[in-house]
Amino acid sequence: RPAATPGSAHSARTTTAITHISTLVTNDPSLGEGPLGLIQDAALVIDGDRIAWVGVTSKAPATDSHLDAAGQAVIPGFVDSHSHLVFAGDRTAEFSARMSGRPYTAGGIRTTVAATRAASDEQLEANLLRYLREAARQGTTTLETKSGYGLTPHDEARALRVAAAHTEETTFLGAHIVAPEFADDPAGYVDLVTGPMLDACAPYARWVDVFCEKGAFDRDQAHAILSAGKARGLTPRVHANQLTYGPGVQLAVELDAASADHCTHLTDADVDALASGDTVATLLPGAEFSTRAKWPDARRLLDAGATVALSTDCNPGSSFTSSMPFCIALAVRDMGMTPDEAVWAATAGGARALRRDDVGYLRPGSRADLALLDAPSPVHLAYRPGVPLVTAVWRGGQRV
Ligand code: NIG
Ligand code: FE
Repeated sequence: RPAATPGSAHSARTTTAITHISTLVTNDPSLGEGPLGLIQDAALVIDGDRIAWVGVTSKAPATDSHLDAAGQAVIPGFVDSHSHLVFAGDRTAEFSARMSGRPYTAGGIRTTVAATRAASDEQLEANLLRYLREAARQGTTTLETKSGYGLTPHDEARALRVAAAHTEETTFLGAHIVAPEFADDPAGYVDLVTGPMLDACAPYARWVDVFCEKGAFDRDQAHAILSAGKARGLTPRVHANQLTYGPGVQLAVELDAASADHCTHLTDADVDALASGDTVATLLPGAEFSTRAKWPDARRLLDAGATVALSTDCNPGSSFTSSMPFCIALAVRDMGMTPDEAVWAATAGGARALRRDDVGYLRPGSRADLALLDAPSPVHLAYRPGVPLVTAVWRGGQRV
């Protein structure tokens, strides 16, 4: 592990240099080689919460303190643009049953809804913090998370209130499934979601999401919910085409959603829509891994010109992993991505899916969100699956 050498700090805002980085991923092609903007034997300077300088070590400016990365790689912190971390309990029994042959359905969500409603705010927050810390240790520095296990105005709003205390990227997913009390009245549930629930949740959310799928919400219902969210200033993102072919992707592009998530079952028209619009295709390989489903075809999307992001989908039902490196390894092994494409998708791609340009890059002005890898290059994230390569993480210039 590199040791910090304290310098003379005169101002409150100190500058820190990290030098002798074997490979620095800037994600800015104007700063280095290839689409990842790679700089070899690199250095970077952190000034307060921002990156002030990147370049080769021999040209690094003097700073207050200095850290020698001794041949390790540095990447932008991962941007996990899709998770469901406000919940209680787990679904171990469902997972075991699935691994002995039972299929995954949206119905399991009800188990987590019951546990979440029964939990206190303090329990929900403690659970969220546990997974946020777990993600941070693995290099995640920006994390979106959703409601969706409350399904009442009160329970959805408290989920988002708890989440908003810890991340700016909060998503209202009251339309995860039809609440059990409305099993015989789905139209009534859509009215609740677009009315009182949205009123209660909008102050704590940046995004609105719908699970547009058989067993959840159809095209018209999803359209109504996303449009109502939009009218309240929330930007859409959609759980689309996960379990079967369906209208989710086309709807996402039509409504200029920031992202269509899952994209497992796509027609050529879906791929064309993603390639021509601004909607990012967010692939969630942890879900296919944990539900033994077919892999999303990242290669097909990339070759068509779509923007691809990778995220964990961390949730207790379909994908209980908080590990972006694990998702990178799966995407490279099974979804046709190159190691460089997967690293981009897990950093800059996630930022694009959250319509952010202050994170996902390491260039002057970026937030100083970065991960140090105990490996000479970012290729090792896929090359050494399951190995905890992230050895240090900075968020907003602070070591976490
Ligand atoms: O993204 N697809 C819908 N929602 C989650 C699963 C939630 C659950 O099973 O609890 C997902 O896979
Ligand atoms: Fe999800």
